[in-house]
Amino acid sequence: MIRAYQAHDYQQVAEVFWETTTRVQFASETERQQFQNQYLDDYLGQVAFVAVEGEQVLGYIIAQLDTLKTEATWAPHLAIFREDYASYPAHLHINCREASQGKGLGGQLLAALENDLLARGVKGLHLITAADARNVNFYKKYGYLQVALKPWKSTDLIMLGKIL
Ligand SMILES: CC(C)(COP(=O)(O)OP(=O)(O)OC[C@H]1O[C@@H](n2cnc3c(N)ncnc32)[C@H](O)[C@@H]1OP(=O)(O)O)[C@@H](O)C(=O)NCCC(=O)NCCS
Repeated sequence: MIRAYQAHDYQQVAEVFWETTTRVQFASETERQQFQNQYLDDYLGQVAFVAVEGEQVLGYIIAQLDTLKTEATWAPHLAIFREDYASYPAHLHINCREASQGKGLGGQLLAALENDLLARGVKGLHLITAADARNVNFYKKYGYLQVALKPWKSTDLIMLGKIL
């Protein structure tokens, strides 16, 4: 079942975040907390949905409504796609527990977010990931198209977007 995020989900959503993140090394606990704030906590007051089975949170999707308005808190790599945010304003992150991947939950979470954004009058949404990540195929399967591909440090980043 997909439903709106509620405050009592926080602990489990944070567990999913740390289960699925690719970054595991931090110089300090403060830096670790900043990372969680930047990629999870700062979004929870905007738009957030969870996939649940009973009391268990299996996955979540979170989004900022208007990326251009949050520039002060951007991670540095967000600046390289600046010219495309006006067309795809909302910025999303999605993660599912490993045991719940590949069963269609991610697609249901995307649909819940897209319907919510559409109802708010948001005209498009996007995400940024590594160009060679497995999840690129996930987004393409659900209708996201490549908006831009740019080098970043030693890799390439891809911005995928959907007009609503
Ligand atoms: C990416 C993710 C949210 C997709 O949700 P999901 O419920 O697994 O995906 P669905 O079942 O709706 O869609 C299946 C498609 O997703 C992709 N996929 C499946 N398992 C995946 C995995 N472990 N990681 C990345 N993509 C995956 C495949 O393209 C698959 O299509 P196929 O069945 O035709 O091969 C989820 O797999 C996940 O959390 N992965 C790890 C973290 C991650 O990559 N998050 C996104 C960061 S940008």
